[in-house]
Amino acid sequence: MDGLTVKYNQLTAEEFILLWESVWDGAPSLEQTKLAMKNTLFRVSVFHGDKIVGMARMIGDMGLNYYIKDVVVRPEYQRMGIGKMLINELMKFVAENGVKGTDIFVELCAVPDKIPFYEKLGFSANEAQRLKMMYHID
Ligand SMILES: CC(C)(COP(=O)(O)OP(=O)(O)OC[C@H]1O[C@@H](n2cnc3c(N)ncnc32)[C@H](O)[C@@H]1OP(=O)(O)O)[C@@H](O)C(=O)NCCC(=O)NCCS
Repeated sequence: MDGLTVKYNQLTAEEFILLWESVWDGAPSLEQTKLAMKNTLFRVSVFHGDKIVGMARMIGDMGLNYYIKDVVVRPEYQRMGIGKMLINELMKFVAENGVKGTDIFVELCAVPDKIPFYEKLGFSANEAQRLKMMYHID
């Protein structure tokens, strides 16, 4: 698609919440999101003109583990190749920063209907199940 701009490490908490709300309910708080943006290894955002249309981020330890989080393309921009572009940018970050000559574990968690999207990009599902807890901080 023409007219797209890719930005690196500029994704703001406000933009993150805006995109989140375009696809999911229950966006996180601004305070939590600001901290998350600050502590993310690498953030990618895609703009169409002035409008943010896609985001993705990589968290991890730069050595053994890289974890892909929050891959979102605004609904009216889906199936145009933007998701693939986001993942490719994240993988480029791994290639440029990972320890040379080693194998690096790149992980993510996907809902079942998004698994084919990731499989097309080289990821494969295994038998591991995601365990989670929403832990309330008083
Ligand atoms: C998942 C998501 C990021 C995909 O982004 P996208 O921009 O629509 O994906 P692309 O257009 O780059 O698709 C790349 C390829 O995957 C395919 N694809 C995309 N979504 C797919 C799906 N749900 N099922 C099967 N194939 C899919 C495309 O057809 C394309 O195939 P091709 O290369 O053979 O043409 C987007 O649907 C989204 O933001 N969904 C809501 C948020 C979400 O669920 N994020 C993922 C969290 S696990």
